[in-house]
Amino acid sequence: TVPNVTLNNGTTIPQLGFGVWQVPDDQAEASVAEALRVGYRSIDTAAIYGNEGGTGRAIAASGVARGDVYLTTKLWNSEQGYDQTLKAFDASLERLGTDYVDLYLIHWQVPEADLFVETFKAFQAIRDGGRAKSIGVSNFTLPNLKRLIAETGEVPAVHQIELHPRFTQTALRAFHREVGIATEAWSPLGQGQVLSDPTIGAIAQAHGVSPAQAILRWHLQLGNVVIPKSVTPARIAQNFDVFGFELTDDEVARISGLDSTEGRIGPDPAEFNLR
Ligand code: A2P
Repeated sequence: TVPNVTLNNGTTIPQLGFGVWQVPDDQAEASVAEALRVGYRSIDTAAIYGNEGGTGRAIAASGVARGDVYLTTKLWNSEQGYDQTLKAFDASLERLGTDYVDLYLIHWQVPEADLFVETFKAFQAIRDGGRAKSIGVSNFTLPNLKRLIAETGEVPAVHQIELHPRFTQTALRAFHREVGIATEAWSPLGQGQVLSDPTIGAIAQAHGVSPAQAILRWHLQLGNVVIPKSVTPARIAQNFDVFGFELTDDEVARISGLDSTEGRIGPDPAEFNLR
């Protein structure tokens, strides 16, 4: 009973999914299999993770129909540009062992290369051909997100960004609401670093849940799509068990109050040019 979020093209994405960043291919296969077994129906991978193969094998072996799994992958930075993107997408589908993805994302904007507009034009062609149901971006700054929209005439369906209680992304989330982009949170648990926060601990205790469950609930109540990562079966199950309680508005506000100017854990998209 995971709620869906409706995207700006009328399709829907499960609000809670399973992420496999930093999970080696063989372990990803086991983790995705476990996630599908406990009920997750959305899986988030990327070409650079090196685990599209394991992810695809787990889906194929799961007994869950491909049409019942929401599958996301991402284009790596070195493959940006119109023709390179088309080739890289073919390679991703091949590794995933499927003939379409539900969501294809530009992984990082790579400002130095300045190729994200033509890259997104290739994404539009892929989507128009039916091999990606929805297209979007990840790790964009607000100015470049606005430029992408202005120069392609299309509002991306999804923007996947670092987002957790210490880094709440107020400005981007406000813009997403204004133009109709779904906000998807990567490292929703702050890569585990926010779990020991005393405010989170107190709120979790009040509901008889774990800190991770309290944080995931905070995301869900803010309307974020979340993709927590874990390789631990008990945690995979626990992170999916977040629909039996609700935080008060005050608790949501107290968690949002943990936002800090030093809260970012990953790279700053404005400066991340790794290719
Ligand atoms: P592990 O994969 O070893 O189980 P994020 O999704 O924010 O990047 O966080 C992922 C990190 O948080 C991983 O180190 C993961 O550990 C840990 N983690 C995921 N779920 C839980 C949980 N329910 N309780 C404690 N730690 C968790």
